Amino acid sequence: MAKYKIAWLPGDGVGVDVMDAAKIVLDRIGLDAEYIHGDIGWEFWRTEGDAFPARTIDLLKNVDAAMFGAITSKPLKAAEAELADSLKGTGLQYRSPIVRMRQLFDLYICLRPCKAYPGNPLNFKEGLDLVVFRENTEDLYAGVEFSPVPPELCDTLGKLSKAFAPFGKLPPNEYAVSCKINTRKGSERIARAAFEFARKFNRKKVTVVHKANVVRATDNLFLEMAREVHKDFPEIQMDEANIDALTMWLLKNPFNYDVLVAPNLYGDIISDLCAQMVGGLGFGCSGNIGEKLAVFEPTHGSAPKYAGQYKVNPIATILTAKMMLDWLGEAEKGTRLEQAVATVIAEGQARTYDMGGKTSTLEMAEAIAAKL
Ligand code: IPM
Ligand code: MG
Repeated sequence: MAKYKIAWLPGDGVGVDVMDAAKIVLDRIGLDAEYIHGDIGWEFWRTEGDAFPARTIDLLKNVDAAMFGAITSKPLKAAEAELADSLKGTGLQYRSPIVRMRQLFDLYICLRPCKAYPGNPLNFKEGLDLVVFRENTEDLYAGVEFSPVPPELCDTLGKLSKAFAPFGKLPPNEYAVSCKINTRKGSERIARAAFEFARKFNRKKVTVVHKANVVRATDNLFLEMAREVHKDFPEIQMDEANIDALTMWLLKNPFNYDVLVAPNLYGDIISDLCAQMVGGLGFGCSGNIGEKLAVFEPTHGSAPKYAGQYKVNPIATILTAKMMLDWLGEAEKGTRLEQAVATVIAEGQARTYDMGGKTSTLEMAEAIAAKL
């Protein structure tokens, strides 16, 4: 029996292409693993009304980790329109499988390292090495949303909040409500994960991202918990930044930042920004990490227009595999894989189209495998 069971979830579009590439390097590095395919994605939404079928949820209950490619997501109405005729009008609502997975398995850390590998022509600046800790289960992603707004909710909000008065006059179809819900526990544990990482890897500073001057209830709670956790890590500097200002400062003075910790939506935004600073989505890797399970995925989406062309850059997914190796406790293999990636980037022979070259997805994987 293999040492590890890994769920293999390519999903949609280029998810398939980049996962094929990741498999090449994992096989070459000799991870003692059994890879078990799981159905997930748009096809299962259309044909079964569920993009994340129960059988895939069961699979995830019985593995050590999962690798996940990408998934096509569409707004509610567009999703309903693509359902098989027999499923239309049955009240099915599309919800992003990755968001569900994060909640269902309590994968509360979204870890997104953004490192500029030397010689990558797409680096915004050489030497960048940012790490984003994004809270992954709550905030505006809680899924508590109303459109149209039910009269009970309207009445209650009218009673409880003066600020609601102008909205309460509107007909239910003229507005929508999405709840931003942040808990003490959720805020505490993501802050702790960021500080523990900083301690373990000798990072100097953790920046807490918020908008507490306007979004007072939830973001103040998030800040308060971060300040509380910081007391246990006196050797690490903590600073606080408003999300809007941070996007400017990050571009202006990126070397002022080190580890960033943010509630879910702000973390989503800054992780794309940080990924772009180190080469774009072809380099953004991410881990959705809980106590029992971790699911590793590239930050990029399914890019349907490139699906099956084996053109996109697999490095994000290959770095994602490196994160999985580290998480499994196979740090020696993880480090070797990262070095192989770094060498290929530095040598500059293999370059996918985003890097200005013609190397295909699988050729890039072979080039990296050859360095292992
Ligand atoms: C990400 C993605 C997802 C998110 C989408 C695909 C639901 O943008 O992983 O950052 O918003 O979390
Ligand atoms: Mg995102």
